Amino acid sequence: MTGVVLRNVSKSYGAATVIPNLSLSITEGEFVVFVGPSGCGKSTTLRMIAGLEKVSGGNIEIAGKDVTWARPKERDIAMVFQSYALYPHMNVGDNMSFALRLAGTPKDEIARRVQVAADMLELTPYLTRKPRDLSGGQRQRVAMGRSIVRDAYCFLFDEPLSNLDAKLRSSMRTELALLHKKLDRTMVYVTHDQIEAMTMADRIVIMKDGLIQQVGSPKQVYNTPVNTFVATFMGSPSMTLLPGELTDEGGTIKVRGAGFNLPLPDRLRARAAASPTRAITLGMRPEHFAAEARTPDFAAVDLTVRVAEYVGSSQYLAADLGGQAITAAVEVGPESDLLGDGRYYFDTSRLYLFDRKTELAL
Ligand SMILES: Nc1ncnc2c1ncn2[C@@H]1O[C@H](COP(=O)(O)OP(=O)(O)OP(=O)(O)O)[C@@H](O)[C@H]1O
Ligand SMILES: [Mg+2]
Repeated sequence: MTGVVLRNVSKSYGAATVIPNLSLSITEGEFVVFVGPSGCGKSTTLRMIAGLEKVSGGNIEIAGKDVTWARPKERDIAMVFQSYALYPHMNVGDNMSFALRLAGTPKDEIARRVQVAADMLELTPYLTRKPRDLSGGQRQRVAMGRSIVRDAYCFLFDEPLSNLDAKLRSSMRTELALLHKKLDRTMVYVTHDQIEAMTMADRIVIMKDGLIQQVGSPKQVYNTPVNTFVATFMGSPSMTLLPGELTDEGGTIKVRGAGFNLPLPDRLRARAAASPTRAITLGMRPEHFAAEARTPDFAAVDLTVRVAEYVGSSQYLAADLGGQAITAAVEVGPESDLLGDGRYYFDTSRLYLFDRKTELAL
């Protein structure tokens, strides 16, 4: 099988198991993003793919070859780290071509590849500059260029954008997505930033404590999170979780929260009916609140607003719903004043329900 395949890969440091058992198939040409909180094992997994870290068990295949015990050089990979070290005494072009020169690549071939990479990364005007005369974002692009001139089978990125400011991060996200399109290579990218994951990935791998929680397209993990961890990790601001109950009232299943009731969404009817009376956790995404009912699925909810934050096209509300703290992101027009207490609407077709004990989605 081509692509990158991890089979029952595990990693322990002494008695501490960091990755208990991880299996994943990454298709050739795919852009896969590993995301999860600090310490969950993202870098460890990436470094095992790169061969910078030995596996404690299992095996790894790249491009159909078992590389479990192969050295990094033999894996046809290129890696970009968070902290990149450019050679300060070399200009941009020389930094980018360093590995090729070391490998004895012919001069005209080097020049051609550096030109292609520089064009792609919009670095052509800077080729003769030294790193100290570049901005942080330009330096990061040089680091990226240094790996793409090598044209590896698979590119590995470990939080390459985390040193950049918000605006640059966002434009580099776009550039990386474009780069992936142009190069058409397998890319594995590690971040703890769910926005990076959502915007760039073909598929997202969400990890917690060394375990894969869910693998899916951005749309899948956002719309159908498998558990409360994924539900609250993906999406910004975070989904609010509230304790609730399913109750069977004369054959009609209702969702009851503290101090409010909501109709059961159609898509969950069959699953809720299997066990209608039980403790659940309700999940409400901030963006599914609105100032007016847009469809018949919108149910009225009365909010006591503690703080309203103006964020442009929306306002974020820290509010109470039936005595429970929730977050709402309500779209408003350009002339709107800060929102206050009152009647709002929630799109019940987008309500999430989880089993309170197992935390799994219904
Ligand atoms: N050489 C090591 N010896 C012992 N424990 C280690 C070693 N390297 C990493 N760990 C542990 O393995 C776990 C996973 O680390 P890893 O660097 O993969 O996390 P991460 O998901 O990349 O986190 P971050 O988002 O902070 O970079 C952590 O608990 C870390 O302390
Ligand atoms: Mg890391």
